[in-house]
Amino acid sequence: MKKRVAILISGGGSNMEALVRDMDERHPAEPVLVLANTANAGGLAKAAARGIPTAMVDHRPFKGDRSGFEAALTEELKKVAPDIICLAGFMRILTPEFIARWQGKMLNIHPSILPLFRGLHTHQRALEAGMAVHGCTVHEVTGELDGGPILGQAVIPVKDGDTPDDLATRLLPMEHKLYPAVLRRFAVSNREKVTLMVG
Ligand code: GRF
Repeated sequence: MKKRVAILISGGGSNMEALVRDMDERHPAEPVLVLANTANAGGLAKAAARGIPTAMVDHRPFKGDRSGFEAALTEELKKVAPDIICLAGFMRILTPEFIARWQGKMLNIHPSILPLFRGLHTHQRALEAGMAVHGCTVHEVTGELDGGPILGQAVIPVKDGDTPDDLATRLLPMEHKLYPAVLRRFAVSNREKVTLMVG
């Protein structure tokens, strides 16, 4: 039986698409749901175009009621019974209770070489720190924001004159290589780290 993967998004879903494209007939996992917290998530249409079930739980009515929002997320997840959850550009902070429920089954991709630059604006912060390299990390999600066990990292050079957008643009294709490579291993309980480098 293939592992069932639910992918949570908030935006364009390019990482979701990379994961879905990689889950071919020989892959140990299959996508069963793409779930967004906003109707504006362009990834919803991309998933639907690929015939993947989608759902949307708007977080705005739950302002100040994070557990209420997560209860609604859980209702959608229950319908598809995922074995693995992939956060892919999902921009909501999850409570320790939700994370505990999915501990060991939930992954995230973060655009920095963790533990450097947890949180937001990672490209800007890497430039401000004068880094010679930058990158992205796929990790298990735990109660510590961007702090769970690292499952893979990709590294890119920082070039003179780079802007944050330059880094984001150079990094995204590496994210699209890293996340699928990690999921292929994670789906068969192989936690050997994936490392990708470009010159
Ligand atoms: C990516 O930079 C990813 O690292 C971050 O969200 C950004 C957009 O991702 N988590 P996507 O195109 O929506 O997958």
